Amino acid sequence: MRNREALQQRGEKVKVDRLLTPTIGIELDIPDVNHADDEVIWTIRRHLARHKVVSIRAQQLTEDQFLAFSRRLGSLVRLPYIRPMQDFPEIIAVLKEEDEVDMGVFGGDWHSDFSFLECPPEISILYSREIPACGGDTVWANMTAACLALPDDLKAFLTGRKAVHVGAPYGVRYAPEPQSRFEGSIRMDRHNPEADAEQAHPAVCRHPERGNEPVLFVNPTYTIRFEGMDEVQSRPILERLYGHATRPEFCCRLNWLPDTIVLWDNRSTIHYAVNDYDGFRRMMWRTTVCSSRPLPAMP
Ligand code: SIN
Repeated sequence: MRNREALQQRGEKVKVDRLLTPTIGIELDIPDVNHADDEVIWTIRRHLARHKVVSIRAQQLTEDQFLAFSRRLGSLVRLPYIRPMQDFPEIIAVLKEEDEVDMGVFGGDWHSDFSFLECPPEISILYSREIPACGGDTVWANMTAACLALPDDLKAFLTGRKAVHVGAPYGVRYAPEPQSRFEGSIRMDRHNPEADAEQAHPAVCRHPERGNEPVLFVNPTYTIRFEGMDEVQSRPILERLYGHATRPEFCCRLNWLPDTIVLWDNRSTIHYAVNDYDGFRRMMWRTTVCSSRPLPAMP
């Protein structure tokens, strides 16, 4: 009830029963995103900044229509490491075939997308084309909620601090063996000089659209250390932060249906693709919207 009242006080015309959780995630009823006018796009953006994850069910889109919808949200970026669909360089196919068993899956560890870039992506968009009979959910954690609930010693430690991100763990260290069947579905290029270089970002950023709302900006896949500290010194503190940020109260879990579009605010969430559907095919299309440099939270 407290959440319902809080939303009503803020004047948000949201059906509370469409929230995935009080902390993160909302499902919006949009009959056909192909006909979304500016107000609908603005509504999606507003809910994205507030609820971090927006799902829109029952959408019928071709590749071109998916691109056109994605472009309404911002300029699209081509991703380092991952080869896109042949005729659509801004879409990647996130695919696991039914015979790809006992192996990793794309996005199968907690991460935000490409935080090792100078300007990490703002929004990521997934569109489900084929989903397993069960399993294959995605989980997101709200890094603003996690930041606000940090214990005082961690808040003090993070003040004014930068974390160092590097793409090499994905592109090199965790990459599947060349010629593996996983490599066959998600085709990767390695050793991208821009992505393999270290990039320091504020460990607590401010959300660009929500005043000085703080965001814990560390990434379980790509953050290797804090500036001025080595990896061994940084590891226990990072592990504590990840354990805190992925507490279930900061998370939502989405059960995919076919033809679902999900957008997430990549600047204030981390996510995890649950790899529990061996024996089923899962195929999604994915686009990624550009952003600007993360800014530090103001004291
Ligand atoms: C990703 O990390 O972009 C993939 C998420 C998913 O497949 O659920």
